[in-house]
Amino acid sequence: MNIAILSRSGSLYSTSSLVRAAMKRQHHVRIIDHTYCDLYITKNTYEVYYFDKKILNINAVIPRIGASVTHYGAAIIRQFELQKVYSVLSSNALMMSRDKLVTLQILAANGIDVPRTLLASHVQSLEFLYDRLGTTKAVIKLLVGTQGMGVLLAEDKTNLFSISEALIRVGKSFIVQEFIKESKGRDIRAFVVGDKVVASMERMAVEGEFRSNIHLGATSRPVKLTEEERRIALKCTQILGLKVAGVDILRSNRGPLVLEVNASPGLEGIETTTGIDVAGEIIAFIERDIKSLR
Ligand SMILES: Nc1ncnc2c1ncn2[C@@H]1O[C@H](COP(=O)(O)OP(=O)(O)OP(=O)(O)O)[C@@H](O)[C@H]1O
Ligand SMILES: [Mg+2]
Repeated sequence: MNIAILSRSGSLYSTSSLVRAAMKRQHHVRIIDHTYCDLYITKNTYEVYYFDKKILNINAVIPRIGASVTHYGAAIIRQFELQKVYSVLSSNALMMSRDKLVTLQILAANGIDVPRTLLASHVQSLEFLYDRLGTTKAVIKLLVGTQGMGVLLAEDKTNLFSISEALIRVGKSFIVQEFIKESKGRDIRAFVVGDKVVASMERMAVEGEFRSNIHLGATSRPVKLTEEERRIALKCTQILGLKVAGVDILRSNRGPLVLEVNASPGLEGIETTTGIDVAGEIIAFIERDIKSLR
């Protein structure tokens, strides 16, 4: 097959891992930086150009779209979809899963347990909604944040109000969540490929930190999922229309709670932690999926 990986750079761990896995299986791979792709659209015509050359003869696209270029990346993927080129990530699923709030709404509506979450228009609204959280401490999440940078902990109601006031004043959108204390700075990443969880790990925050993002120094180790966690991870990807995804779960006193679902999950953490060839699983899945669609 001719596989195109939409990625900013071949030197990124995930990209090079996918290139290696595809070559190992005798595929021809091209890395295309989607931020340098141009589109031509007219009646029944949807072309993609890369440095003034039309991209032709691609059998499968593997999008690795960063959060800062979601919209542009989705436009490129959609153009391939219109050409009937297989993409392991659809433009719609990408757009939907990039928005934390949309993801929570859709998951909750489909019977998935998520942390109790508030979206408040005014600080005054927090006054009557705060008690619905059920915890004194509250987690504030900027809706544009990534890698833990837009996530903070308010110690109590007063603290939550003053932070919220400042954020509303500067026009930043955010959500407020109950603080799941019992997860103790840990979360679970279930890596889903097709209808299987191919690898899973637990991430542990550094001392004194509640966010378990690797970028914030968290460590990780392989973890065995419970049957329930496995079922939930698969259900989330199904609901969101994702074929490859990282589902993040908090272990709470009332069972597993889904935090977020990542449509372009990094491979470095999961492969180095578990020793599993996740990139190989992705390529093998694409081969099977394309065959089943024929
Ligand atoms: N409600 C919560 N209760 C306890 N801990 C939480 C809660 N929400 C998030 N955390 C911790 O903070 C970390 C970061 O939160 P989250 O994953 O929502 O944002 P993010 O990592 O910045 O987003 P992204 O993964 O999209 O970059 C989580 O991995 C988890 O360890
Ligand atoms: Mg996260």
